[in-house]
Amino acid sequence: MKIAVFASGTGSNFQAIIDAVSAGELAVEIGLLVCDKQEAKAIERAANHGIPTFVFSPKSYPSKEAFETDILEQLKAHSIDWIFLAGYMRLIGNVLLGSYTGRIVNIHPSLLPSFPGKDAIGQALQAGVKLTGVTIHYVDEGMDTGPVIAQEAVRIDESDTRESLQRKIQATEHRLYIQTIGNLLTGARA
Ligand code: GAR
Repeated sequence: MKIAVFASGTGSNFQAIIDAVSAGELAVEIGLLVCDKQEAKAIERAANHGIPTFVFSPKSYPSKEAFETDILEQLKAHSIDWIFLAGYMRLIGNVLLGSYTGRIVNIHPSLLPSFPGKDAIGQALQAGVKLTGVTIHYVDEGMDTGPVIAQEAVRIDESDTRESLQRKIQATEHRLYIQTIGNLLTGARA
């Protein structure tokens, strides 16, 4: 199975996938990184591991259809089977949804449907909830919507700061994403 990872930023989830593949914990090949930000740290991570990268600038295209058509061409050229979003901060459009139906997955730092969109961790702190978490779901045309595949709760303690909560959520994300990708792609279906 060949996967593409889409990222816009730091890429700590991307790194967790790279590490799991390197350690032989995940029997997939990372065939491509797709990135919409020239300055994203994820690009450096791909380069360090010899992973092909397609970096594009959305502003230089007339429409989402236009840049997704270029992405699709890259996905086909690298024989990509599945797409995993890891901090890709853009809605997926019809071109990719049509070609990869049921094979695009996203990770989000909250228990959806609570706190979709940007800064889910800040939203949870602001709301004063005691429990938040991580959701992995199939992607549809909405913002952090689509059928849930896996969820895990993370407690918010009195002493938590934004940084400490982010650390707990990220640790959960990295573990749950690897486990879920493994379940989806390497045969451990229920
Ligand atoms: C992750 O927490 C991911 O769940 C979130 O962006 C972060 C990227 O971190 N995604 C969303 O909020 C999607 N709506 P990373 O670049 O270190 O993997």
